[in-house]
Amino acid sequence: MGENMLEVEIAGIKMKTPVIAASGTFGFGLEYTDFIDLNKIGAISVKGTTLKPRAGNSGCRIAETPAGMLNSIGLENPGAEHFLAVTLPKLAAYNVPVIVNISGSTVEEYGELAAMLDVPGVAALEVNISCPNVKHGGLVFGTDCNSAASVTRQIKKSTKKPVIVKLSPNVTDIATMAKAVEEAGADAISLINTLLGMAIDIKSWRPVLGNTVGGLSGPCVKPVAVRMTWQVASAVQVPVIGMGGIMTGQDAIEFLLAGACAVMVGTANFVNPRAMETVAAEIKEYLLARGLKHVSELVGQVRV
Ligand SMILES: Cc1cc2nc3c(=O)[nH]c(=O)nc-3n(C[C@H](O)[C@H](O)[C@H](O)COP(=O)(O)O)c2cc1C
Repeated sequence: MGENMLEVEIAGIKMKTPVIAASGTFGFGLEYTDFIDLNKIGAISVKGTTLKPRAGNSGCRIAETPAGMLNSIGLENPGAEHFLAVTLPKLAAYNVPVIVNISGSTVEEYGELAAMLDVPGVAALEVNISCPNVKHGGLVFGTDCNSAASVTRQIKKSTKKPVIVKLSPNVTDIATMAKAVEEAGADAISLINTLLGMAIDIKSWRPVLGNTVGGLSGPCVKPVAVRMTWQVASAVQVPVIGMGGIMTGQDAIEFLLAGACAVMVGTANFVNPRAMETVAAEIKEYLLARGLKHVSELVGQVRV
């Protein structure tokens, strides 16, 4: 009983469960095959990929915080060519949709990357707009509606793949940002990326992270993420994928009730590499206990 109750389809991507690996927290998936069966997860959003290889930031890159973590990895990755030549063929051995999370420093770079990745085996692109726009004095794409819309339009012109735009929470009005990227052609929206944070070592009086500031994730961000998911899902027509601090099925259900059609699990993978399996199983248990037939019966049902 309940075989298909977790199956979802978002922007044409068919998934066995609505639980997806969040970018940057699950490598390219291949690193985790000793722990979790990739064939059983909804989809994998792979490590943020750039046009050229990147070494990432120097110094300390990860710090624990109360109920979460700060990171400033700096998008370390082997680059798109390596991904296409080495990683993607290996991922083809698994029956799991591969979402490629992309980052760029100009609108043109995003377009070039999207065109390169318009190949079989890539299920969709997820666009990380939490990156500084070098042509506009380092202003982050995701904090300016016009830049976010330009990137979305350029990518839509460059690929036939579904385009998921991943929003930054470091904005005043997340719904306006969501509407801007929807109008520019986004097929789906995912949120939230990490919240900008900082920690200071009181022995040395120096910032803990080599990059001074970094992205906060984990359970501490969940209420902010649920609120933003609800605001965005209420403002747009395209499907929304929610994330931020999901550790359990109960956490995921909050995002579904807020209006997300699927969820991504990030920091939890560092605590328990099988977290996504548990989250999916707990959603299913909840549906069965409530006599519900399909996970879609939860989506957007919060009684406000
Ligand atoms: C170590 C680390 C690396 C990340 N790298 C990326 C990335 O490359 N691209 C991206 O869009 N998001 C990246 N993120 C953000 C996550 O995908 C996710 O949006 C965020 O961590 C919130 O979810 P969580 O609380 O479940 O971790 C990263 C997060 C962490 C903790």
